[in-house]
Amino acid sequence: MEVRNRLMNVLVTGGAGFIGSNFVFYMLNKYPDYRVVCLDLLTYAGNLSTLETVMNNQRFRFVKGDITDKELVANLFKEERFDYVVNFAAESHVDRSIEDPSIFLKTNILGTQVLMDASRAYGVKRFHQVSTDEVYGDLPLDRPDLFFTEKTPIHTSSPYSASKAAADLLVQAYNRTFKLPITISRCSNNYGPYQFPEKLIPLMISRALKDDSLPVYGKGENVRDWLYVEDHCAAIDLIIHRGKDGEVYNIGGHNEKTNLEVVKTILKELDKPESLITYVKDRAGHDMRYAIDPSKARSELGWEPTTSFDEGIKQTIKWYLDNRSWWENIINGDYQKYYTRMYGSREGATA
Ligand code: NAD
Ligand code: DAU
Repeated sequence: MEVRNRLMNVLVTGGAGFIGSNFVFYMLNKYPDYRVVCLDLLTYAGNLSTLETVMNNQRFRFVKGDITDKELVANLFKEERFDYVVNFAAESHVDRSIEDPSIFLKTNILGTQVLMDASRAYGVKRFHQVSTDEVYGDLPLDRPDLFFTEKTPIHTSSPYSASKAAADLLVQAYNRTFKLPITISRCSNNYGPYQFPEKLIPLMISRALKDDSLPVYGKGENVRDWLYVEDHCAAIDLIIHRGKDGEVYNIGGHNEKTNLEVVKTILKELDKPESLITYVKDRAGHDMRYAIDPSKARSELGWEPTTSFDEGIKQTIKWYLDNRSWWENIINGDYQKYYTRMYGSREGATA
């Protein structure tokens, strides 16, 4: 208890997932005077083995629980008296939201409300909502001059992005109505260590390593703006400490690639043939292009991405090669059933 009282106390929800776990490591490494509490339900996307290296760290505590559980959340806030709350916990996969939206609405919207109510009741320096560039909808492929700014209207395409947008609006409402100190970050596609192998990059790496077919949706022309996960963590660190109360910050590093370019880069790095690529039925409502204008984060916070896509994709592939057991354990479990369900009807079909 004495150790705790002298330290800044940060709640990281969803810290057993991809970006949340990278943020836990980032904060514990960077701030010796910070304590980090991770609240995570350990859904299919959460993996306690990811946090193995910090489990015995005196400045880290793991709590298994649901952000929609009011009583559990209130008790945790009462006990811990958090300084900062960073909300990563979410259902995060677009394809799953098309299959069944309900859990997305519950976790992503109601969970955010429960966390904000506790933040109000127990007083926090800052509630930070980790949002996404998907709240802006998409941009056309033939207008490379267009980018998402913080002023771009919210215009969502999938149940996932609609749930994230709803949460963003609620966060802004709590700021205006209840004066809850908040910030929101809207980041582009992340990649790096510990990403669940249902997302494009780890899915393609893990399947290519097994010489399995690589399911590219539609023609593979959709564009995503890729950011190495540590650059996202650095941006959130700057926002919670230096960002202005009530503000939204777009985060992205101008690394636009078509899906086909990404898949071909992975195949080249792994020395695997392009014949593994299989064009499958397109995602319903598939956003064409995401592209972030990060100039506000640059000018107001001095944020700059440090890892180029060329470097980051090599590091990521190496991580998946060096940590086979991490993703093989996932793939051998329930995920196999998900893959068959999700792609069984897609194989062979084209856009
Ligand atoms: P992820 O799916 O890898 O991890 C989500 C984590 O949240 C998991 O550990 C899961 O167990 C936990 N969780 C889910 N429901 C919960 C609940 N009810 N209570 C407590 N914990 C729960 O997700 P990610 O890719 O790391 O994304 C993290 C956040 O960043 C999300 O809010 C997402 O919308 C946002 N985001 C992601 C990206 C990206 O490219 N992955 C980009 C921009 C923003
Ligand atoms: O932009 C930020 C968002 O990025 C986050 O908010 C989401 O949580 C995160 O999942 C991600 O969403 P995307 O839908 O862009 O990511 P995903 O990895 O699912 O897909 C990336 C692109 O690759 C997209 O155009 C769909 C395509 N794709 C994806 C899969 C899984 C394929 O062609 N084949 C696939 O098998």
